Amino acid sequence: KNHAIRGSFLHFIANPAAVETPAQSYQYFADGLLVIEHGLIVELRDYHADDASKYPHLEDRSGQLIMPGFVDTHIHYAQTEMIAAYGEQLLEWLDTYTFPTEQQFADKTYASKIAKFVINELLKNGTTSALVFGTVHSQSVDAIFEQAEERHMRLIAGKVMMDRNAPDYLLDTPQSGYAESKALIEKWHNRGRLQYAITPRFAPTSTAEQLTLAGQLHAEYPDTYVQTHVSENKNEIEWAKSLFPECDGYFDIYQRFGLSGPKSIFSHAIHLTDEEWQAFSDTDSVIAFCPSSNMFLGSGLFPLARAHCDKVRVGLGTDVGAGTSFSPLQTLCDAYKVMQLQGQKLSALDGFYLVTLGGAIALSLDDKIGSLAIGSEADLVVLDWAATDVQRLRMQNAKGLEDSLFALMMLGDERNVAATYVAGRCVYRAD
Ligand code: GUN
Ligand code: FE
Repeated sequence: KNHAIRGSFLHFIANPAAVETPAQSYQYFADGLLVIEHGLIVELRDYHADDASKYPHLEDRSGQLIMPGFVDTHIHYAQTEMIAAYGEQLLEWLDTYTFPTEQQFADKTYASKIAKFVINELLKNGTTSALVFGTVHSQSVDAIFEQAEERHMRLIAGKVMMDRNAPDYLLDTPQSGYAESKALIEKWHNRGRLQYAITPRFAPTSTAEQLTLAGQLHAEYPDTYVQTHVSENKNEIEWAKSLFPECDGYFDIYQRFGLSGPKSIFSHAIHLTDEEWQAFSDTDSVIAFCPSSNMFLGSGLFPLARAHCDKVRVGLGTDVGAGTSFSPLQTLCDAYKVMQLQGQKLSALDGFYLVTLGGAIALSLDDKIGSLAIGSEADLVVLDWAATDVQRLRMQNAKGLEDSLFALMMLGDERNVAATYVAGRCVYRAD
C-alpha cells in the first residue's frame, strides 16, 4: 500500500559549496508528487493532472515546502530543563547548572518524562534524526531509546562516560563505564533504526584508563559511533592539554586512545590548530557545528569555510541546553550570523544542505536519510513558507526560490513546521 503527497519538494544531491553553480546541488519540484511505500520513498517527480485519479487518497500539501527531515548532530537531551541558564562560560556553566541537572537522571521515571518531552520537541521542530548525549546513568539512555523506538525514529545515543573532575554523584569508573556502555550496545545498537554512540563527555572528565577502555570498546564494535567535545573554549583547551601533557594538543588525546575516525563526531572544534585540521582530515573525523551554543557560552566562531577547504565533514547541532533552541531553522539563523561575523556567507542552500544531506553524510547515513532519493527512508518535514505576519509580508516580496528559502531560514521556527513524517508515518501535525 502506498501513500502519495503533493507539494513543493526540495532536496540535495551535492554540497552547494562543492559544485560550480549552487543550482547543481539540489532538486526542486514546485508542484511535485512523492510516493511512499513500506516507509521508503519510491517516486519523486512533477505532479501530473491525472495523479488525483491515480491516487484517490492523495495528501494535498500544495503551497507547502517538503524536505528531508532535519538532522541534529549534537544535543544533550538531559539539559532541556536548564536551557538558557544565565551568565557563565563553559566550565563554570557545567559546574553551576549542568551537573546538578544531570543528577536527576538517576531516576528512570524522571528520565522517561524528559525523554518523551524531548522527542516530541524534536518532531515538532522537524528534526527526525539526532545524535544524543544521555547522562552518566544507563537508564537515561534506555529512556531516550524507548521513546525514539515508539516513534520509529532513526536516533543515535550514548551513556556519558565520566570518571573524574565532576561531582561524585555523576562519576562512573573505567570498568563500570565500559561494562555499562557495552551492555547498552548489546541491547540497543542496530535495534530497528537505533544506533549507539560511545560517549566520553570530553577529555577533562575522563582518566587515561577510561579513554583506553572507551577506545577498546570502539575497536570491539567498530560499527558504533563515538561522540564527544573538542576545542570549544580557551580555558577548556588549556585544561585538557595540562591533564594529558604527553599528547600533542587536545584532538591528539582522542587520536591516541583510538577515538577519532569516520564514525567519530566532535562537537564545536572552534579553535583547532593547523595540525589539528590536518588530523581531522586525515582521520575523516566529523565536526558538529553548534552556532547557537557557541554564541550563548561565548565560546567563539566556528570557521565553516576552513572545514570545507580541508574536506572535513560537518553537521549542524543545536547543542541544547547550551544552545538556546531546538529549531534547526533558528540554529541556521545563528549559523548565518556566525559566518557574517567572520566576513563569510551562508546561503539558504548551504544552510538547508547542512541540516539535511550534510547531516546525513556527517553521520554516514546518507544511504538511508537526508535526501528524497528513491530508496531513502521517508523521513520528511512539511513547512509553511510563512507562519507570522512579518514572514507573510516578507514572503510576498521574496525574489525567487533562494530568497524565499533564505527568509524562511532566518525568520522560521517551530511555527513553520506543519507536519513531520518518520518512516512514512505522520508523527506530528500542527493543527
Ligand atoms: N563540554 C563538556 N560537556 C559539555 C556540555 O554538556 N555542553 C557543552 N556545550 N560542552 C561540553
Ligand atoms: Fe554539547
